[in-house]
Amino acid sequence: MRSDHELYRQLRALPAGLLLAEEVPAFDRLLGRERVARVALIRAVGTVVSACRDERLKDAARDWLRSLMKDPEEKVRRYAAAALPKFASGAAEESAILDALKVSGEERERRRLAEALEKVGGEATLRAVAAGETSEVSVRKVKAGMARKSGGVSARIDVRIPFRLGSMVHLRCRRGLESFVAEEMSGSPFKVREVRAGCVIADVTREFSLAEAHALRCFDTLSFPLGVIRNPGAPSAVDELAALIASASSVRLMELLTAGAPRYRLSLDGASAKVIDRIAERAYALAPSVLNDPKSAAWTIDVISSPLGAGVELRPRVSPDPRMHYRTAAVDAASHPPLAACLARVSLGTDAEVIWDPFCGSGLELVERAMLGGVRRAVGTDIDPAAVALARANFDAAAVRDVTGEFIACDFRDAPLKVGLGRGSVSLVISNPPLGRRVRVPNLHGLFADLFKVSAEVLRPGGLLVFVNPLRLEPEGLPLRLEHRRTVDLGGYDCRLEVYRRV
Ligand SMILES: C[S@@+](CC[C@H](N)C(=O)[O-])C[C@H]1O[C@@H](n2cnc3c(N)ncnc32)[C@H](O)[C@@H]1O
Repeated sequence: MRSDHELYRQLRALPAGLLLAEEVPAFDRLLGRERVARVALIRAVGTVVSACRDERLKDAARDWLRSLMKDPEEKVRRYAAAALPKFASGAAEESAILDALKVSGEERERRRLAEALEKVGGEATLRAVAAGETSEVSVRKVKAGMARKSGGVSARIDVRIPFRLGSMVHLRCRRGLESFVAEEMSGSPFKVREVRAGCVIADVTREFSLAEAHALRCFDTLSFPLGVIRNPGAPSAVDELAALIASASSVRLMELLTAGAPRYRLSLDGASAKVIDRIAERAYALAPSVLNDPKSAAWTIDVISSPLGAGVELRPRVSPDPRMHYRTAAVDAASHPPLAACLARVSLGTDAEVIWDPFCGSGLELVERAMLGGVRRAVGTDIDPAAVALARANFDAAAVRDVTGEFIACDFRDAPLKVGLGRGSVSLVISNPPLGRRVRVPNLHGLFADLFKVSAEVLRPGGLLVFVNPLRLEPEGLPLRLEHRRTVDLGGYDCRLEVYRRV
């Protein structure tokens, strides 16, 4: 066993081409026990060749592995069955594995062959299971694999959801942004029922589509609550969770809003693959039309702990997010889009004729604010020319009518001169600045002190500075008055969203 591993380590270091041109023919010349002594080569071919980019080498490796399914040595067949699913496989590979299964009497080999069929199997495998040729293969996994090959991994956002199906939704957001989510709901199909940390629970007041729900910009994800498991530690929790996944409304929602076979991923922190498998198998027994697929699914079942137990929610994967239609690409330190939307909403109803984001990055705050209306001129500056190019591309893609965008690469301190932002010329300074985490800043304190200074200069009397402040720093001796401050979770650490008015 030890020497197997040592040999594998050596072979894994060789290039794919060499493995196939030299090691494989040498292996093929060996007989019986000599072949068994070199099975590590099969594993190495699986790892190395499947990761290379040369499709011809991949085809050659797959054909070789398929030929090994007829090998007289059980260990050789077993290793080949484990490696084969790493390559794009079709009916020929499926048939080779099924043939091996028909004659195999070794439990260990049968298990490995069944696992391979669960990954590459199709109709022929389902027929073999129905004919009683194997009891080891999970039909659920074969069907999930078949559905995956047919594509379609995103929920259908234009389908209207009948009122009785989705009568309540959870709109999740970063902690601290809940009131934005709640306020934005007026006029939407939702009515606030309860506000919790990071989640607004809403009653649905009429039929809606996911596209309509995504007209709201301040929430992060939407989900349908399925129920609560009071005692998640009890042995019965597995059955309870399976029953919720397979409940009539859950199945109906997945069927209605998925193109193709509905698949879900189970997000259950700390659960082993074995437990997830058990839950998925039970849910499948109750509702075979929905399949568990950890790799690509249009739905996630979230299990979220709460004081009452474990809340179970069904969350559609809305991808691409229609709210981000204008985003051509993102910078590394791009804003969390709903945060940008919340920053934009802070200044709703006040003068926003001329807006400036001193640290515009990819420009989300400027676009979000321009889309709310009342903006004539939007100015973005960033020290990184690549970010500026991206902000300009995003702003152009957003195509907000009657707003001119100006984007210039410079240090924000030079912007008043370089861009022509004269004293008292700006209505709103809006920004998610560098917070000293993802973007390194040599003197963060100095940067924020200067932001206060420059904002006080360029803002009109009555104008607003809206930004995220990672420091406990206030503008001293400047004509800026704090109007609003709240703590916001920026993805694992707290900052303050602050609003100052130029007095
Ligand atoms: C958090 S990111 C902004 C993200 C942006 N809101 C978005 O939507 O992508 C902060 C940006 O500040 C820029 N930056 C850092 N120091 C700067 C400075 N002195 N002057 C101007 N921009 C600066 C960085 O290049 C980075 O793009």
